[in-house]
Amino acid sequence: MMLEVKNVSSGYGDVQVLRGVDLTVDKGEIVSIVGANGAGKTTLIRTIMGTLPLTEGEIRFQGERINGLPPHTIARLGLAQVMEGRRLFGHMEVEDNLLVGGDILRDPARSRENLEWIYGMFPRLKERRRQLARSFSGGEQQMLAIGRALMTSPKLLLLDEPSIGLAPIMVKDIFGKLPTISARGITILLVEQDVHRSLSMSARGYVLEHGEVVLAGTGSELLDNERLRQAYLGI
Ligand SMILES: Nc1ncnc2c1ncn2[C@@H]1O[C@H](COP(=O)(O)OP(=O)(O)OP(=O)(O)O)[C@@H](O)[C@H]1O
Ligand SMILES: [Mg+2]
Repeated sequence: MMLEVKNVSSGYGDVQVLRGVDLTVDKGEIVSIVGANGAGKTTLIRTIMGTLPLTEGEIRFQGERINGLPPHTIARLGLAQVMEGRRLFGHMEVEDNLLVGGDILRDPARSRENLEWIYGMFPRLKERRRQLARSFSGGEQQMLAIGRALMTSPKLLLLDEPSIGLAPIMVKDIFGKLPTISARGITILLVEQDVHRSLSMSARGYVLEHGEVVLAGTGSELLDNERLRQAYLGI
């Protein structure tokens, strides 16, 4: 088991958002968390990454308890996140944004190898490596944010709505890279509102409603589930 989230509750001040969430991610899997706006998906990622303390439960990564550890320590264990809004260094060139991601490795050869792999996957980043990140389009910024997370050689990549605000062709392009990332041995936890697309490429998924897991199953079980189809696919 790579990631175990056990009976986790968390929130903001007096506002409880997550309520007793249980989920697991096995090594090598792509697992989706789907749910409506405000369901608590981003809150779950923040809680796993340690930027938001939990109020109940525990989180284990490769068997080791990580809740309570500072976020940079959690990152060093091999978790990397791509958050909504992307948080790039706009005043820096594309390649420098990537290299900053790789700094955590303290291994220039590995960093260089990751960079070449990422440029191979996203040639547009290579073509524009001297451009300032802030002048990138939304889709290019999303590629760069994914690239920067991959520079850290993560064991587990957490993606928060990579499709948000992107044109369909760009969404297709970015989702199309997930199997390539997975094939490199990187486990993926994907948070999405694009329920069909994300469950179609996931081994398993969880449906989050009002901070609770209300459904869990394989990707295809969930896509066949009557309740999910009515609530999220409108069919
Ligand atoms: N910093 C915060 N302070 C107080 N409440 C917050 C904060 N961030 C989120 N919330 C609340 O927590 C709940 C869950 O928010 P969260 O961002 O986790 O939802 P989400 O599932 O990621 O939604 P979306 O799909 O819109 O990104 C919402 O009711 C939201 O208003
Ligand atoms: Mg969110």
